[in-house]
Amino acid sequence: MARITASVYTSHVPAIGAALDLGKTQEPYWQPVFAGYDFGKQWMKEQKPDVVFLVYNDHATAFSLDIIPTFAIGTAASFQPADEGWGPRPVPVVQGHPALASHIAQSVIQQDFDLTIVNRMDVDHGLTVPLSLMCGAQDPVQGAWPCPVIPFAVNVVQYPVPSGRRCFQLGQAIRRAIESFDEDLNVQIWGTGGMSHQLQGPRAGLINREFDNAFLDKLINDPEAAAAIPHIDYVRDAGSEGIELVMWLIARGAMSDVAGGPGARPPRVAHRFYHVPASNTAVGHLILENN
Ligand code: DHB
Ligand code: FE
Repeated sequence: MARITASVYTSHVPAIGAALDLGKTQEPYWQPVFAGYDFGKQWMKEQKPDVVFLVYNDHATAFSLDIIPTFAIGTAASFQPADEGWGPRPVPVVQGHPALASHIAQSVIQQDFDLTIVNRMDVDHGLTVPLSLMCGAQDPVQGAWPCPVIPFAVNVVQYPVPSGRRCFQLGQAIRRAIESFDEDLNVQIWGTGGMSHQLQGPRAGLINREFDNAFLDKLINDPEAAAAIPHIDYVRDAGSEGIELVMWLIARGAMSDVAGGPGARPPRVAHRFYHVPASNTAVGHLILENN
């Protein structure tokens, strides 16, 4: 059977992608940001996942304001890096896993979560920056990402957005779906976006280290409490774009300790990193392994 071995959490700041693509990773501003991902890149090589289930948000790139799915699963065989206005990032095409994605869609919809099935979509910095951070620079033509990726897009751009509680419950349904797939696969689930940031309005530039670190503590040790945070608290405390953090609860909900049962143990914290600033955003990154 397929099994979820670990969850990864990371911010997705587009300027990080630009710094990587333009060879600026060793510049004094960027060096401490990328240093926080040295562990993860090595860890990825050792873990050799067969599939990454990548929870992210589209920034009005694949989905315009005409149609906004709350939860959308990418079932295609491949996904092109999106043109966000400066041309697509020079990164490899993202290969999907249609068989597992279709199975997850079937199972999760039957568990009463309404997913939108997306058979064609381009993927923006929300998805490609986390991949670059965890896998390092890849040649766009000769290179390839280390494994297939199932993109799972969450609406955190246009209100109303889903609650943290619903995201946490959805993660539990995704775990049941993945673990009922009849093939031996090492699957990771990633939750991306965040941490505190606000890009517009009078509070633009807001960062809240205290909230972010308390959120990391809660996510690790008391995910139920993290899931109970109402969306207005994210907006007040972590800025209007801090709401991206609800996506981390999908990944956390998919960890085995949440399911309980005999032998359920809290996950092992393999890596924790926090840095301010990167562009307008506080960068947070966690790796949790199922015990
Ligand atoms: C920035 C952060 C984001 O999450 C995003 O989607 C766009 C920009 C920033 O910090 O600049
Ligand atoms: Fe964003």
